[in-house]
Amino acid sequence: MHVLYVCTEVFPLLKTGGLADVSAALPHALQQEGAQVTLLLPGFAAVAAGFDPIGQAVRLPARGATTLPAGLGPVWPDGHTVPTLQAGRLRASGQPALLLQAPALFDRPGNPYLDAQGQPWSDNPLRFGWLGWAAALVGTGLVPGLTALGTPPDVVHGHDWHAGLAMAYLHLLKGHGRQAPASVFTVHNLAYQGLCGPEWLGRLGLPPSVFSMQGLEFFGQLSFMKAGLQYADALTTVSPGYAREITGPEQGCGLDGLLRHRQDRLHGILNGVDERVWNPEHDALLSHTFSASDLRGKTLAKAALQTELALQVAPNALLLVVVSRLTEQKGLHLLTEVVDSWVRQGGQLAVLGAGDAGIEDALYRCAQRHPGLMALRLGHDEALAHRLMAGGDAIAVPSRYEPCGLTQLYGLRYGTLPVVRAVGGLADTVTDCRLEAIDDGSATGIVFHDFSAPALHTALQRTLALYRRPDDWAKVQQNAMAQRFGWGDAARRYRRLYQSLRPGAAAATPPHAQPGTASA
Ligand code: ADP
Ligand code: GLC
Repeated sequence: MHVLYVCTEVFPLLKTGGLADVSAALPHALQQEGAQVTLLLPGFAAVAAGFDPIGQAVRLPARGATTLPAGLGPVWPDGHTVPTLQAGRLRASGQPALLLQAPALFDRPGNPYLDAQGQPWSDNPLRFGWLGWAAALVGTGLVPGLTALGTPPDVVHGHDWHAGLAMAYLHLLKGHGRQAPASVFTVHNLAYQGLCGPEWLGRLGLPPSVFSMQGLEFFGQLSFMKAGLQYADALTTVSPGYAREITGPEQGCGLDGLLRHRQDRLHGILNGVDERVWNPEHDALLSHTFSASDLRGKTLAKAALQTELALQVAPNALLLVVVSRLTEQKGLHLLTEVVDSWVRQGGQLAVLGAGDAGIEDALYRCAQRHPGLMALRLGHDEALAHRLMAGGDAIAVPSRYEPCGLTQLYGLRYGTLPVVRAVGGLADTVTDCRLEAIDDGSATGIVFHDFSAPALHTALQRTLALYRRPDDWAKVQQNAMAQRFGWGDAARRYRRLYQSLRPGAAAATPPHAQPGTASA
């Protein structure tokens, strides 16, 4: 079983969010399960810097090449060298990978998706159109000289809108008689859709026939996300809860009709925790490690964190932490509304995040009001994220929606109780500390329902109340730390899904059969 895994980010080389963590962990876990996995990544400078090439780069056939169906595939900007694929390995992990080398598309400073003004790069359709095209060419064996792969892929597995056109191009090449591998498309976040105007159709070499309701047209625009959802053989998303939610109008982002239509092909497979990176007993980024049976290191980590962040070094002040992209999705404006009462009651707050200027400003104003009680660090800081996870008492994830969420899983592992809104993967992974759940040992955090400041306020009151009952807090903390959201389980589910798509396989058996997490 050979999987071509198409994505844009991979930890530790390039990371804007959880997608990068998944692209590092899932391929590894799949390999542990006996699958062969080759990553296909855009040749961003940060990725190229951690990549060891093997052999010569191979030129992709240009549009009009006699081997290709006429007119299919993206154009290439005049005056630039045609993209190449370079086989090799990610240096840190040894992970086999293909790099799509196209400096005109990928070699530019700043965010991989957004320009300096925070707007999508204007040529994003071409950039990620090429990623999809490269995946489809590799998948269908149309890249002459690409021998480094060994066996051709049995499955092309694309992630988020950036890989959406891979599914459309594979479908079209199949229509032209090419033998195509099975295709799987994973939604990590339905809200980012990769929309562009219909004028791109020609530049992407897509026939007008696909620009329809049954194709990749979305309210007059071309949607990369919809291409993925429409043309992949199987769809997955990163929690059973989100798989259910996106088939409804509230979280469906306008695509719920299509998702309902393809519901029998849609599977929710929960992400996991990469124990190589997130394990308090062996975390190389911590000066004090700890375990559930010996939490002294956690106490030291808290004091060190308070000192580092210029918070009052108060062992009994409940330190709430946040590690997050600062976007509307994450609901952090709710936190800005309740922070005054939080610190008034003796709580502390430490936030690490980067993103929207408006949310950064609002948090900054809160921090200014509460020196010594609230700390804010703007920017991306992997090591500080680990120190917050270790030194915090609780972690807030008050998201409006959350496909899976990883920070609440890291919080559980580090005994930092998640305070989460009951949505998507958060609802699937955290059990509220109701009295009976404390009693029966299932409570792992604090869960609230309404997306409102009063609801978050009440959840934080309950967090404080639990903290003032040290025995109960310790019990919930032990339950939390005993949770294991392993990647092995997820990898087995993906593998079963791949197998079910093989030619001749019986109708797809759901890749997950755990109670309460039925296929959406
Ligand atoms: P999302 O992918 O929606 O951003 P997840 O919870 O799935 O949310 O993943 C977020 C990942 O990004 C986690 O690994 C988290 O630790 C990390 N992260 C988020 N913001 C920062 C930051 N400012 N600095 C360091 N790591 C961050
Ligand atoms: C997305 C989602 C997040 C998920 C991550 C990895 O960025 O917002 O909930 O955990 O992808 O799948």
